[in-house]
Amino acid sequence: MTPTMHTFDGVDLHALAARLPTPFYAYSANAIRQRIAGLQSAFQGLDHRICYAVKANSNIAILQLMAQHGVGADIVSLGELHRSLAAGIPAGNIVFSGVGKTAEEIGAALAVGVWRFNVESVDELQLLQRVAQLQGVCARAAARINPDVDAGTHEKISTGRSENKFGVSIDEARRWFAQAGSMSHVLLDGLHAHIGSQILSLVPFREALGRVEAFRQELVAAGHVVSSVDIGGGLGVCYRHGHDQPIPATEYAALVREVFADFQGTLVLEPGRYLVAEAGVLLTRVIRVKPGVDRSFLVVDAAMNDLLRPSLYEAWHEIVPLHLDPREVARYDVVGPVCETGDTFARDRAMVRCEAGDLLSIGGAGAYGMSMASTYNSRPLVAEVLLDDGRHAVIRRRQTMAEMMAGEQLPQVWNEA
Ligand code: LLP
Repeated sequence: MTPTMHTFDGVDLHALAARLPTPFYAYSANAIRQRIAGLQSAFQGLDHRICYAVKANSNIAILQLMAQHGVGADIVSLGELHRSLAAGIPAGNIVFSGVGKTAEEIGAALAVGVWRFNVESVDELQLLQRVAQLQGVCARAAARINPDVDAGTHEKISTGRSENKFGVSIDEARRWFAQAGSMSHVLLDGLHAHIGSQILSLVPFREALGRVEAFRQELVAAGHVVSSVDIGGGLGVCYRHGHDQPIPATEYAALVREVFADFQGTLVLEPGRYLVAEAGVLLTRVIRVKPGVDRSFLVVDAAMNDLLRPSLYEAWHEIVPLHLDPREVARYDVVGPVCETGDTFARDRAMVRCEAGDLLSIGGAGAYGMSMASTYNSRPLVAEVLLDDGRHAVIRRRQTMAEMMAGEQLPQVWNEA
């Protein structure tokens, strides 16, 4: 049956694209709410906090949605701290992760009172002590463990192997706890592990979390207090229908309940993609169809600077033509206008025949889409729209040319270094 309309969160996408120039991102508020509620109910009864990984989609309207549902933030920069606070996420519900925290960032985070720091190196631990001492405050810290587990995901988004830059070995963390008493301004009372992203199997989670829990029990037996365990993010989503099989939140929660059955403290979750990826689409129009030697190119007005995942990770995103008249199937390379061969959204993809001006929806674009966008090829950042029960609100307007060049200037004064 031919659909009469393509709606997303009750909004007719054709009507929307008639009002707003493509390309733009559209996010379903209800889809995000459903994900939050699903995760919350799966973990009901467990002492837990969900701290959304802001990097997945850092628009302040998305962060406000998180805040409205009691979700905190997992941040990795001062910029993400500013956004989270601006969106109404309380500092006391923010965890600060990342291998490269600077003294400035630590100072700013301590000044507003973030909940805890996920510490990734001994140098950072010592810096945290120095900055906290200077400010006369006590910093709460968790040791990020690198459990040396293969998450079975794309190598560029795998973080839990010993050769990755993240976290420290259990041996090193053991030494940190043994010496923690000597730090006057750091309370090291947590553990953290994040092994990678877009994980579709419980096996690596079981292995990694099992190692973390065994270590926690060892620490407790040695007389240390561990009041929180941050189990990271990484829950995968369905990018390709009939292919990707995400772990249901209930099964993930059941594993966590089983592994941490003896743990009495707070479990922290840092989901990013799981909460927002499938709630977002990138709407784009066909500029032209260009015949090639083997197959035709569908040249669309979105490009790798707007959605980098296919270029960077060979990631699959569903591409759905939204025209309503029935047409035969064709095969295309779907490409953007950027001057790079890697500016390709799909290769040899079967889809119904398209013509110039047709509207396409690129799925799974709610996470690591806009947050990884750039102005490469001097293409202004695109707009973002939030959809909610048939209504829409622009939550980022398209950047103007002047805004794109803001901050740049011709040399006026030449200074000696
Ligand atoms: N916690 C930490 C410490 C992280 O580094 C990350 C993601 C997360 C949580 C959230 O992971 P998630 O639940 O979203 O899998 N740009 C890549 C993904 C990079 C993920 C980086 N860290 C992509 O587009 O696939």
